[in-house]
Amino acid sequence: MKFINQMEPWLGSEEKQAIAAYLDAGGWLTEFQRTREFERRLAEFTGSKHVSVVANGTVSLFIALKALGIGPGDEVIVPNYTMIASANSIVLAGAKPVFVDIELETLCLDLELAEKAITSATRAIMLVSLNGRAPDMNAALALARRHGLFVVEDAAQSLGSGWQGRHLGTFGAMGSFSFSAPKIITTGQGGALLTDDPELFDRIQKIKDFGRREAGVDFHEVIGYNFKYTDLQAVIGLEQMKKLPWRVARKKEMFSLYRRELAGVPEVKFIPTNLEQTSPWFIDILVPDPDALKKHLRRAEIGSRPFYPALHSQPAYQRPGNFPESEYAARHGLWLPSSSFLSDEDVRRVCAEIRNFYTKTA
Ligand SMILES: Cc1ncc(COP(=O)(O)O)c(C=O)c1O
Repeated sequence: MKFINQMEPWLGSEEKQAIAAYLDAGGWLTEFQRTREFERRLAEFTGSKHVSVVANGTVSLFIALKALGIGPGDEVIVPNYTMIASANSIVLAGAKPVFVDIELETLCLDLELAEKAITSATRAIMLVSLNGRAPDMNAALALARRHGLFVVEDAAQSLGSGWQGRHLGTFGAMGSFSFSAPKIITTGQGGALLTDDPELFDRIQKIKDFGRREAGVDFHEVIGYNFKYTDLQAVIGLEQMKKLPWRVARKKEMFSLYRRELAGVPEVKFIPTNLEQTSPWFIDILVPDPDALKKHLRRAEIGSRPFYPALHSQPAYQRPGNFPESEYAARHGLWLPSSSFLSDEDVRRVCAEIRNFYTKTA
């Protein structure tokens, strides 16, 4: 029986041929025209005016904060349930991440609690659209406006997802994506920053390239770093972009199939998901006992992965506090096999094993 991983990247002969053609043409590998093309494709797909592709989705968040002038002495509100890079990018910028609980209906920041956490040091809210779901974005923007705060969208998991018809990542001052291996499309590593503001875009470009305006010209206007991308990755990214619309549709079909197949299992709860808007990158469920189910699935040659621990409880942070919803998600969440190439038969096999598990333990 073939092992079904919880997630695998999906590259094909198209990527292989494109890389071979690029190398045959004498490409220098480093960021150049293919990167510009990849950025244009991302801008077209998301409707953002400017896109800058960078080394990964952690530094893209760091660059966003730097470009907004956020640093030591500043606080940034971040959901207490997210991939740890959201918070770590704030630490990297020298600011303090302030953890706020989530709402279980979306797994996103609870906006009422966020408002209560605002202090005189708060400069920004980092909105994380986990698995392509978003909070009420109008309310989030209004909240930020009321308090004079920036909104930075960590949309690392949201390529292909929108809110009321607008692509996630395009609501705040800046939005960020990731192209790490498990994402809906991947270039191994990689991140992208989206903004409609030409001034912010100019700052992003300088921060990512040693503080200069032009590659190869050694005149540096500000302190910048090297967070550039490579054309080698962009060649893969361009091929992956061609496959993205199909994958968006497939993720939605898979989510629906999982929901149908598990509808009769009372122990399995799905997070409310509007598939018109959300393209679920991972199939996420809430169950009484994710570790026990994971072990059962492992014995049946099926991979799964428990949700992230709540940020405040991570050894790296160890912050006191009461975060019932993020703790609940962390205690009960499990990601099921989600690779876009899985067949309906694969999904049915996973669901049959889950049904088996709960029939046996009932
Ligand atoms: C929500 C979220 N933010 C940030 C990141 C960091 O992105 P990267 O792995 O590209 O640094 C990830 C992904 O890994 C993520 O899922």
